[in-house]
Amino acid sequence: MEKYLITGGAGFIGSNLADKLIEEGKEVLIIDNLSSGKKENINKKTSFFNLDICDFEKILPVFRDVDYVFHLAAIPRVPVSILDPIGTSKTNILGTINVFKAASDNNVKRVVFASSSSVYGNQSRLPLREDMIPDPISPYGLQKLAGEKFAWLFFKLYGTSIVSLRYFNVYGPRINPDSEYSSVLGKFLKQKAKGEPLTVFGSGEQTRGFCYISDIVQANLKAMKSSELKGGEVINAGSEDSNSVNFLAELVGGEVKYLEKREGDIEHSKADISQAKELLGWHPEVSFEEGVKRTVEWFSQRSQ
Ligand code: UD1
Repeated sequence: MEKYLITGGAGFIGSNLADKLIEEGKEVLIIDNLSSGKKENINKKTSFFNLDICDFEKILPVFRDVDYVFHLAAIPRVPVSILDPIGTSKTNILGTINVFKAASDNNVKRVVFASSSSVYGNQSRLPLREDMIPDPISPYGLQKLAGEKFAWLFFKLYGTSIVSLRYFNVYGPRINPDSEYSSVLGKFLKQKAKGEPLTVFGSGEQTRGFCYISDIVQANLKAMKSSELKGGEVINAGSEDSNSVNFLAELVGGEVKYLEKREGDIEHSKADISQAKELLGWHPEVSFEEGVKRTVEWFSQRSQ
């Protein structure tokens, strides 16, 4: 049976990916230190290892006989990386190198690495294409860029096939609503449930190429198996249609409170996905309105 390992498999995206693989009858191992992941997200049919990716010696044996690795473990969130550039770099850069080295030492067939659209920073043109020169404006963006570069190096030096997907603002069921640094929809859902106004940073006219969770899961599965890829490639996984924070607030509904623009935020992001279409045969299938509706429904069931 094909053996998969997901780092960050207790998190929002990793746990949805784990569920899908289990549904397909695969063997799934999970490494997660539950820093932002949750125990209740972990599929019971997986084998769970409560480990930190910063501890190379401990994670190494878990990679034995693994065929495929999805590397999603990270300290996510742009604002957190601005507050703690050292701690986030340890996990997001050194932890990533540990995962790549453990995968390489165990001759896995491929690693798919969760990178981020934040590597682009503010570009003068949209949509964002993979051949643009990255210009991160947050430690988080720079950390993900370092991961991409190491992915390429591991392919060149050791022949390990590591492919990077640049996720664009993923949302959907299991999005974290509970932290001050939760992503925008998570925060809006919580605020609405508490009867508080939705906090919009800046004008709210900033846009994002929001991508629904089931679509990002598919992009990962396709990147893992695509014969068009060798190693070191970087591919956008996001939406060609961008939507503003104001529109999201309108879909969620309720009063809005405008606050100062957030440091490290880019204005606009929208994905060019011609590479994903060509190399993965992938494009998003769930519209923004539909995806937000499904997430709102999930949240209301969860909070009952
Ligand atoms: C960023 C990255 C994304 C990455 C993610 C991981 C960019 C463009 N995107 O998302 O690729 O995967 O971090 O952490 O850098 N907002 C409000 N009110 C709130 C919260 C947020 O108005 O209460 C606004 C933000 O100012 C921002 C937008 O909503 O303009 C999206 O913010 P957020 O959900 O935090 O994600 P990004 O920082 O865009």
